Amino acid sequence: MKKKHLITSALTYVNGFPHLGHLAGAMLNADIYARFLRAKGEDVLFVGGTDVHGTKMEVGAEQEGLSIKDYIQKYHDLHTKLYEGFNLSFDAYGNTDSEANKELTYRIFEGLDQNGYISSKTTKRPFCADDNQFLADSQVGGTCPYCGYEKAKGDQCENCTKLLDPEELKNPYSTISGSHNIIFKETQNLFINLDKMQAQIATWVESKKGIWTDIAYTTAKKWLKEGLQPRGITRDLKNGFAVPKPGYEDKVFYCWFDAPIGYIGITKEWADKDPQNRRWEDWWLNPDEVWHTEFIGKDNIPFHSIIFPGMLFGSKENWTQVSFLKATSWLTFADGKFSKSEHRGVFLDEALEEFPADYWRYWIPANSPESDDSSFSFDSFQAVINKDLNDVLGNFVNRVLKMTQNNFGLEVPELGSITENEKELYTTLDKLVAEYTEKMNDIELRKAVALLREIWTVGNNYIAKTEPWKVAKTNKAYAGTILNTALNLIYLFATLTTPIMPTVAQKMADIFGKQIQPWPTGPIQQVLTSIQNGAKFVPTEPLFRKITDEERDALKVKHKEVE
Ligand code: MF3
Ligand code: ZN
Repeated sequence: MKKKHLITSALTYVNGFPHLGHLAGAMLNADIYARFLRAKGEDVLFVGGTDVHGTKMEVGAEQEGLSIKDYIQKYHDLHTKLYEGFNLSFDAYGNTDSEANKELTYRIFEGLDQNGYISSKTTKRPFCADDNQFLADSQVGGTCPYCGYEKAKGDQCENCTKLLDPEELKNPYSTISGSHNIIFKETQNLFINLDKMQAQIATWVESKKGIWTDIAYTTAKKWLKEGLQPRGITRDLKNGFAVPKPGYEDKVFYCWFDAPIGYIGITKEWADKDPQNRRWEDWWLNPDEVWHTEFIGKDNIPFHSIIFPGMLFGSKENWTQVSFLKATSWLTFADGKFSKSEHRGVFLDEALEEFPADYWRYWIPANSPESDDSSFSFDSFQAVINKDLNDVLGNFVNRVLKMTQNNFGLEVPELGSITENEKELYTTLDKLVAEYTEKMNDIELRKAVALLREIWTVGNNYIAKTEPWKVAKTNKAYAGTILNTALNLIYLFATLTTPIMPTVAQKMADIFGKQIQPWPTGPIQQVLTSIQNGAKFVPTEPLFRKITDEERDALKVKHKEVE
């Protein structure tokens, strides 16, 4: 029986300015899932942070004339502030450059080394003779040998997603200086022998069939079918942890070696400072009790399904491996790319200035790129905010509060005898809430949000059918029953909404001066008695505002959705 839920979301590189795609790729889904599990009363640890080693940061620091350390700090702080603005509820949040992470990186490396999974090889590495320096894979550009894309990088072709070695690129050049004077020069580096783990990893991946998202499972299978190869884990670079092995001290670990260990390192850093003395080992060296869900973008699949698991297996400690690998596709901007330099797309700082976080937190999972890429547009955003949030949820809350106030003042009227209308309501909601809960459990968020919207609609339908404003004139007792039920629906909706729109949900609970109640498990009829007869309530301001056509058009221009 798994008693604990460990949730990780891919650590974001700090060289870029975060945009909606970053939220949609991993972090927001992970946050929604964490909030859902907490509402169910589960023991949750949600881990996230930034990925700060490697070439990208060296290049970024150079461009901004900062030291690598200052550059990392600047962007780590920026990312942190923005994610806070979106109410991402990380329990442990940090970056990959901590002492704790260094310690764990060395521990795993030494385990691998002792168990015979590390070998050394002299290879020829790209070296720019004009700039007199070795280049990282991603600092070499050239033509992809598989698809012919001309701007492929030496680590991966972003067009066909093949992982590449720089030697494979045709017509290579330095992306730093543009120089084509690239030679391949000998250097000795360390490799992890994934080839020796082929059988163990294959058996393990096989056991994930039907559990992991399809794309994660099939990508891992494809890698296994091609046969696992030794992979370099050290680099001739500056930004990273020095390699603790004689003869390699002037090299650093490859960023993809210590980045996933960062999940553990960030947990350790958190645990070391925890006033409750919780232990990182209870999460990471406890596979029998921990269900570990990893949220990643689809380009990260090989690292999370093969390489990082191989690192952990090979070190031969009893690590908690990933239980469920949740990989998503891309959220694009108006069918194209987000580009900070061209000011094209919605970046997280402006997003927060323009609308409350919850508007975005609703639109994104409602359009989550779960099985396919999806695209943001302001037409869609306007339609979703105006219809789902204003016309359905906002309107329901507003009407119920007004009608109650007009007929009964600011007190919850009495729940008298119920009719077929209420029985039908209970039956419908029992079914929908169960379905919604199931989709949340399965992390199928697009379907989950559609069900949440359907649940809100049930509230509106109930009011439309029972017409309490009319009933109040002839049968005040039944009007009281209807509005009591409707007020209880608001409180139920607060709970069901809280994983997705935590601020709005709390406003709904605030109407009754209450905390959000735990996730409903029993019959809805019972849940709809939580707010008691005669309780006082305080009407709230409208929960949402509509987006006008003029505003939408101005946003399209501002964010370069249209020229
Ligand atoms: N920084 C990587 C990316 O943005 C993801 C790293 S995930 C980790 O693609 F597990 F390695 F941290
Ligand atoms: Zn390609």
